[in-house]
Amino acid sequence: MPITIFHTATTLNGFLADENDSLDWLFAVPGADEAESSFGAFLETVGAFVMGAATYEWVMRMEAAERPGMWAETYGALPCFVVTHRTLATPTGADIRFVQGAVSDFWPRVADAAGDRVVWLVGGGDLVGQFDDAGHLDEIRVSIAPAVVPSGKPLLPRRIGPDRLRLETLDRAGQFVEATYRVLR
Ligand SMILES: NC(=O)c1ccc[n+]([C@@H]2O[C@H](COP(=O)([O-])OP(=O)(O)OC[C@H]3O[C@@H](n4cnc5c(N)ncnc54)[C@H](OP(=O)(O)O)[C@@H]3O)[C@@H](O)[C@H]2O)c1
Repeated sequence: MPITIFHTATTLNGFLADENDSLDWLFAVPGADEAESSFGAFLETVGAFVMGAATYEWVMRMEAAERPGMWAETYGALPCFVVTHRTLATPTGADIRFVQGAVSDFWPRVADAAGDRVVWLVGGGDLVGQFDDAGHLDEIRVSIAPAVVPSGKPLLPRRIGPDRLRLETLDRAGQFVEATYRVLR
């Protein structure tokens, strides 16, 4: 079974995005490029990735407005599972597979696509919680930005105690703290 890793950036107070679904707090961090450089190596280990509808729509807005061709450049034809009740537009050449419902129902398709490589959980937080509920969350890698926002989309809205989280590595990338936790079942 592939290893499932939630790899994300977060504010210091645990938000993936602010109340307007904005990541301006992230792009404003000096040295964000340095933190991004390790992401390329991570992406090479990924066999399939999974994101919720709001995250996908954010990426598609970036693709349409600010960085046309971003999807092809970054992800190529890597299988991406978008968890949604809707059918949404897809970028040219992308391998997007829409799934919905219980994680346990669509997990075999995700695992099959990833093979012996990693499944990257992009977010949002509740979707990652659904993976943990189903016993399919193995690791959390957070890049903690030097920013706080008053409210927004939570990192992981579940109760997971220190009995289930083990700190594996702790690094610095520019202004970011990078922490990796193993998630015990
Ligand atoms: N900081 C970062 O690096 C980072 C990483 C990831 C995300 N983000 C941002 O954080 C925000 C996340 O938004 P979000 O918390 O709303 O989460 P999300 O997971 O991206 O989207 C939630 C939506 O996904 C669909 N969904 C979730 N679970 C489902 C299921 N089991 N079956 C069918 N549909 C399901 C539903 O949409 P429908 O019912 O409408 O289809 C739901 O409203 C976005 O703004 C994103 O850009 C930031």
